[in-house]
Amino acid sequence: MIILKSERELKMMHEAGKILASCHNEIRKMINPGISTLAIDHFVEQYLAKWGATPEQKGYKGYKYATCASVNDEICHGFPNKKPLKDGDIVTIDMVVNLNGALADSAWSYAVGKISSEAAHLMKIAKESMYKGIEQAQVGNRLGDIGHKIQTYVENEGFSVVREFTGHGIGRSMHEDPAVLNYGTPGKGVKLREGMVITIEPMVNVGMWQCKIDENGWTARTIDGKLSTQYEHTVAITRNGPLILTDQELS
Ligand code: MF3
Ligand code: CO
Repeated sequence: MIILKSERELKMMHEAGKILASCHNEIRKMINPGISTLAIDHFVEQYLAKWGATPEQKGYKGYKYATCASVNDEICHGFPNKKPLKDGDIVTIDMVVNLNGALADSAWSYAVGKISSEAAHLMKIAKESMYKGIEQAQVGNRLGDIGHKIQTYVENEGFSVVREFTGHGIGRSMHEDPAVLNYGTPGKGVKLREGMVITIEPMVNVGMWQCKIDENGWTARTIDGKLSTQYEHTVAITRNGPLILTDQELS
């Protein structure tokens, strides 16, 4: 069941999104060779507390951390750990912020020190594919329009989109209907209506799209060991077009 949001609920989610976005802007300044993803995780928890918000991921289905931190071949749901990030790594930090019961979800990828031109290109295409998807988040369009744009943009560059994980509706819970696939057929799927809020979060791989799950039961990584990256925004469907609730430029 898709839950449409009122003006007031949207405002509350936007407030959560602004905190989330400003948190990413702080993380950007911290990312350097030598810092650990656990240190970033601790920072996030403190930062959110300062703004009266909480990390929704912590405790979700037994997940122990405020953030997911996925490095290099890790696709998503990487556990923050004490290992220092090193020059040339790419890392995706994903988090869900709860402010007074309203949620926002955004993942962003960061380059650690100097990265390869392949990694830089992957990050650029993944980010652009997310914005191509967001452009399609218009009243009357369908989910297939979003997925199709993302997939064709990524595949034209020779990269692949992960199939096992999708975007989702979001509101008072982290995962609501509908599932937002990063591939699809134009004109197919759920029709977008005013008041829907979804995440658009393509995971893009250099090589094959398939993943395997670590022994920890959570962390997904590429089966070929090649790089993967991800960008994610929470987006409201409004009569004036897509409204990015986690926009870092407004935070
Ligand atoms: N933020 C993730 C998403 O985009 C969900 C993380 S799973 C968790 O859907 F368990 F770590 F919370
Ligand atoms: Co997320």
